[in-house]
Amino acid sequence: MRPPPLAPPVSPRAGSPAPQRLHAARYRVWQMWRALFPGRLDAADRAILEQTLPPAGRALFAAMAANDQRHSLAVYRVLRARGCDDAELLAAALLHDSGKGGGRVRLWMRPTVVLLRAFAPGLLRWLARPPAPRWRRPFYLAWHHAEIGADLAAAAGLSARTVLLIRTHHQPGGPAAELYAVDEGL
Ligand SMILES: [Fe+2]
Ligand SMILES: [Fe+2]
Repeated sequence: MRPPPLAPPVSPRAGSPAPQRLHAARYRVWQMWRALFPGRLDAADRAILEQTLPPAGRALFAAMAANDQRHSLAVYRVLRARGCDDAELLAAALLHDSGKGGGRVRLWMRPTVVLLRAFAPGLLRWLARPPAPRWRRPFYLAWHHAEIGADLAAAAGLSARTVLLIRTHHQPGGPAAELYAVDEGL
């Protein structure tokens, strides 16, 4: 069953201090709700995919979790709103997290990885080191999803530059710096 629509708040920082906390809390709830019940792709989304990705790239996109698909389209739209018309960067925006697809990085893992990255990055690096036995495999896949996605994009026939942009999308000063900035801001 689809959930009732929950309108996004105007801004998490809007209003005076008490309403500000309420806005921030409401924003977090809305983000969680959106992650749990991502909307279906509509005609505009499908048009973006058809214009930006080759068929094999669209298959890679389709293998991603619905909330990752929504996130990738949001990154694409922010780049477009900033005036970006770089076709290879826009293709990378749609596929930058494709390494998480195919069930490699399950949704239940995400909060654990976020907390470890913030508070115990050394432990996360240790858990993600190769070779990864079965119990550490989810951490390995989460940590290395940029390289995994880049290899998948190369196999799908995306350009060498798009592959490079996906591979480096976690580097703030790297070739995909613009993609990194937008990705971090969402
Ligand atoms: Fe990523
Ligand atoms: Fe991302």
